[in-house]
Amino acid sequence: MSRPPVVPLVVPASGPSLAHDSDALAADYERMSASRQFETGKRLAADLAIAPGERVADVGCGTGLLAEYIADLVGPAGHVLGIDPLPLRIEVAQARVKKEGARANLAFEVGDANDLGALPAAGFDVVILNAVFHWLPDKPRALGQFARVLRRGGRIGIGTRPPNAAGDARHPVYEAMARAMVEPPFGRYPRPRGSFVSQVDADEMRALLEAAGFTPTLIEVRPSVQVHATPEAAVRFSEASSFGNLLGHLPPDLRPAAREAMAKKLAALMTPQGIVQQGWRLVAVAVRR
Ligand SMILES: C[S@@+](CC[C@H](N)C(=O)[O-])C[C@H]1O[C@@H](n2cnc3c(N)ncnc32)[C@H](O)[C@@H]1O
Repeated sequence: MSRPPVVPLVVPASGPSLAHDSDALAADYERMSASRQFETGKRLAADLAIAPGERVADVGCGTGLLAEYIADLVGPAGHVLGIDPLPLRIEVAQARVKKEGARANLAFEVGDANDLGALPAAGFDVVILNAVFHWLPDKPRALGQFARVLRRGGRIGIGTRPPNAAGDARHPVYEAMARAMVEPPFGRYPRPRGSFVSQVDADEMRALLEAAGFTPTLIEVRPSVQVHATPEAAVRFSEASSFGNLLGHLPPDLRPAAREAMAKKLAALMTPQGIVQQGWRLVAVAVRR
């Protein structure tokens, strides 16, 4: 008797779209990340103890502020390669560095964490991912790529957004934006499952790193605070940081109204200091065995 075909019950996570980015979002990201992701990135670079002469891959480098900072740490004897799948963000990085005076120890390329086959095996001392890991749906695959390009004894540093800390409700900022999205007419267009962030907690991070051939030396959840001057700025920051995926699932003509609806909900969170978003950051450093 022939069996019915096996239909997978779970559709593999497709991950965020890379098609929603724009020149305006890339420019906003460069400006808005300077006081946010760039600051946490510098701390991650310190956690990694990046030294002069080292070869560093900044994977998911965005508009490249952190890669440029690390180029100063490694100095002329070292090298930094910034890789990002969004061509517009790589263009911003390249244009800024060209304007400031190109340096021999820094380069940017379009590339994807899921396929680093163009890079030499064991060609790097350090791989750094700042605010990127939660955008990668297939973490074992990406970690396998990082293990391949790192030399034995090389280090990986990951700073990422974890799921809610035990017992914490979803952060009010995300809660407010999500509440706006379930109301009509936006609720008719639910975001496809697996197409936004996929977060891991500290235990999952440890297990993933160990399985991929790394020995963790630091795994820590740290408090993080972001302040948004206005509700509109909070929405724009989320759009720029998600390279358009915050609203990318909606028909384009609904997006302006969706921004307004989110801002309206967020207005309830305004304080004299702005919207103060207290959250968490998971930081991991591990050595390639
Ligand atoms: C919030 S930004 C962080 C940018 C930068 N690391 C920083 O610290 O400012 C997230 C970045 O992850 C990148 N990203 C998303 N999917 C990726 C993938 N498959 N491979 C590499 N980078 C990816 C995005 O293109 C985006 O630039």
